[in-house]
Amino acid sequence: MPPRWPSRFCCDDELAFIGVDGRDAAHELAALEAGGPRRRTQELIAVVRANEVDGAAVLEVGAGVGAVHLALLAAGAASAVDVDASREYLAAARRAAERRGLADRVDYRYGDIVELSANLPPADVVVLDSVVCCYPYLPVLLEAAVSPGPRLVGLTYPRDSWWMRIYMRFWNGRRLVSGSPERYFIHRHRTVREILAQAGFREIYSGGSPAWRVCAYALEGRT
Ligand SMILES: C[S@@+](CC[C@H](N)C(=O)[O-])C[C@H]1O[C@@H](n2cnc3c(N)ncnc32)[C@H](O)[C@@H]1O
Repeated sequence: MPPRWPSRFCCDDELAFIGVDGRDAAHELAALEAGGPRRRTQELIAVVRANEVDGAAVLEVGAGVGAVHLALLAAGAASAVDVDASREYLAAARRAAERRGLADRVDYRYGDIVELSANLPPADVVVLDSVVCCYPYLPVLLEAAVSPGPRLVGLTYPRDSWWMRIYMRFWNGRRLVSGSPERYFIHRHRTVREILAQAGFREIYSGGSPAWRVCAYALEGRT
C-alpha cells in the first residue's frame, strides 16, 4: 500500500482512492442492460435469493451500477440502500433503477460505508460484490457493513492464491504508472471468516471460480 494512503475516507479527496472514478460506469451499465450481471454476480444473487428476499431491506455496499440490489428488488425485496464511494456509479445505478421503475425503493448514499454506517437504517441482507478488493482496511469495512444488523451477508472477492497476488501486483503497478490512486487488495479468506464469526455469522455458502470467491454468511440461529 502506498504510504500516502489515508487512514479514513471522509471527503472527496480521500474517496477518490476507493471510489474508482466512474470512468467505466456508462460502459458497465450498457453491459448490464444488454447482457445481465456477470457470472459471479449472478451466483451471488442466486445464493441470496435462495435465502429469502421477499420483503427484505437490502444494503448494497459499493453497488457500482446496481446489479445486485436491482435484481433483489425485482425478486421481491422491499427496499435497498446503495452506499457508494463514487458519485458517478451512484448516478449510473440511479439511472438503471429509474429505467426499471425501481428508483423510488432505493436510497442512495455517497461516501465510505465505514463513515456512514452509524446512520443507516436496519438491513436484513447486506451484499458486497467486488468491494472487499477495493478497500485496504478489512476489519473496519466488514464491521461497518454488518452494523445495520443483517441476517445474511453475501460477498464476492478475489481468492488469496499466489497467482492472484501476482495479478494484483501487475494491476497495481499499471495504476501506479498511470498516476491513478486506485489499488487492488487481496484479503485472506480466513480473516474474512474470522471477522464475520466474531460478529456472529457462520459461512453457509462458498463457491465462485478459480479466481473469485462467492460466499454467504448467516447470523447464527437464523438459518
Ligand atoms: C470494483 S467496483 C464494484 C462495483 C459493483 N459492485 C460490481 O461488482 O460491478 C467497487 C465499488 O465499491 C465502491 N466502494 C469501494 N469501497 C467502498 C466503501 N468503503 N464504501 C462504499 N463504497 C465503496 C466503489 O466506489 C465502487 O463502486
